[in-house]
Amino acid sequence: MAARIVKVEPFDLVVFGGTGDLAYRKLYPALLNRERSEQFSEPTRIIGVSRRHYDRNAFRLAVKDALLKFSAGAHEDDAAMERFLSRIDYASVDVMSKEGWPELRSLLGPDERIRAFYLATSPDLFCPVAKRLGEEGLVTPRSRIIVEKPIGHDRASAEVINNELGSVFLESSIFRIDHYLGKESVQNLMALRFANSLFEPLWNAAHIDHVQITVAETLGVEGRGSYYDESGAMRDMVQNHMMQLLCLVAMEPPNSLDADSLRDEKLKVLKALEPINESNALALTVRGQYRAGFADGGPVPSYLHDIGKSESDTETFVALKLGVANWRWASVPFYLRTGKRLPQRFSEIVVGFRKVPHVIFDMPSDSIPANRLVIRVQPDEGIKLWMMVKEPGPGGGMRLEHLPLDMSFAKAFAGQPSADAYERLLMDAIRGNAALFMRRDEVEAAWRFIDPIREAWASLREPPRPYAAGTWGPNASVALIERDGRTWNEEYDESD
Ligand code: BG6
Repeated sequence: MAARIVKVEPFDLVVFGGTGDLAYRKLYPALLNRERSEQFSEPTRIIGVSRRHYDRNAFRLAVKDALLKFSAGAHEDDAAMERFLSRIDYASVDVMSKEGWPELRSLLGPDERIRAFYLATSPDLFCPVAKRLGEEGLVTPRSRIIVEKPIGHDRASAEVINNELGSVFLESSIFRIDHYLGKESVQNLMALRFANSLFEPLWNAAHIDHVQITVAETLGVEGRGSYYDESGAMRDMVQNHMMQLLCLVAMEPPNSLDADSLRDEKLKVLKALEPINESNALALTVRGQYRAGFADGGPVPSYLHDIGKSESDTETFVALKLGVANWRWASVPFYLRTGKRLPQRFSEIVVGFRKVPHVIFDMPSDSIPANRLVIRVQPDEGIKLWMMVKEPGPGGGMRLEHLPLDMSFAKAFAGQPSADAYERLLMDAIRGNAALFMRRDEVEAAWRFIDPIREAWASLREPPRPYAAGTWGPNASVALIERDGRTWNEEYDESD
């Protein structure tokens, strides 16, 4: 069945940082795909904004070049490409001065169309741009602002940004992107939990032994060294993407998919996280930094080499053991790990069920592995439910095997294009549907959990442990889970 396309009302999307990497690599290709699906209504416009002095035609050519480079669809549909380029306009604005704002104002005109300001800029510019948009009278009742993580580098700085954005835009008009929430399989997690009656009765401490969340990357810091060295894996991945995955696994069923119902439930999870601080950080956290090794198909240098420094205490790998203090999850550990330069790129959530209480088969009790539900977020999106089955054969005894019920979304929906996270998130922001965006209190609650961990690392003076690029992080990460008698899921390794 082909996906149903619901057209969006005409809008003006103003992209600050319109000549930057994020815009060229992600936003314009996502918008071109929506154009190809005929989702736009007339007259929709996309207005790039940056300090550069381009005229409209030169900018259109630059966008076209970027699309030919970064969008597979650009080569397949000339008519859509022409339609898309005809929507593109440009304004040269210096966001730190008064220069260019009158031109942007007259380009936008008095129109009461939906107006979305996308800040594809460095986070330092979020507040100045928002303030200027207010002062220049560009914020209409139908305006909204879209910002990317990082929202601050700790709770205090996130509050400053949120206050400043909130002094110009209503909270319901602020769309904070966590692109993981736009991923198909992340939403499928909600379908799995709340559109099936099978799992929810088992989704608690009585039946679940533990949960694992892994976001593994083979890439290093890829030219983002100066940002990354200030950030590290904890701020770059855990505070946002991993906390969001954890919330979707652990939250109570929301009353509806309405933005606030959903976000209220996620917030409760963040508030229920058992604190990690100086008293327990050494037992519950592991941080690592990659050294030279072999990853991504060849030899690769160390993190220090990648960032061009002789020393750094920044972690490129984190493993954590978390607890969610509520009735549903009391005593169920959540193990999280993420890192750069690991052996494979994949993200998955593993729900480990409890073992059978008694073994009737003629075999040692520990030879019956527990059921495991593996939700593969990327790549090869799908769900596997590992179960015990009888090995075929006439023999007297019963031999059992651990095999998966295996659903690959690519196979189940063969021939249907799946939308990139940005396609979905951009269209949701235009529609004003904030369900897949982070609310201010969620962002601040995530920092409230993360800040004491980083403070503990600083005061304990524990440098990140080295690991060779292309390995699964420091040995201490394996010890973190194995000393509890559990292991990281290695099924992807075997099937690869
Ligand atoms: C970004 C991080 O938010 O997510 C990057 O800043 C990381 O460091 C990226 O590589 C991972 O996203 P994805 O969609 O490739 O898993």
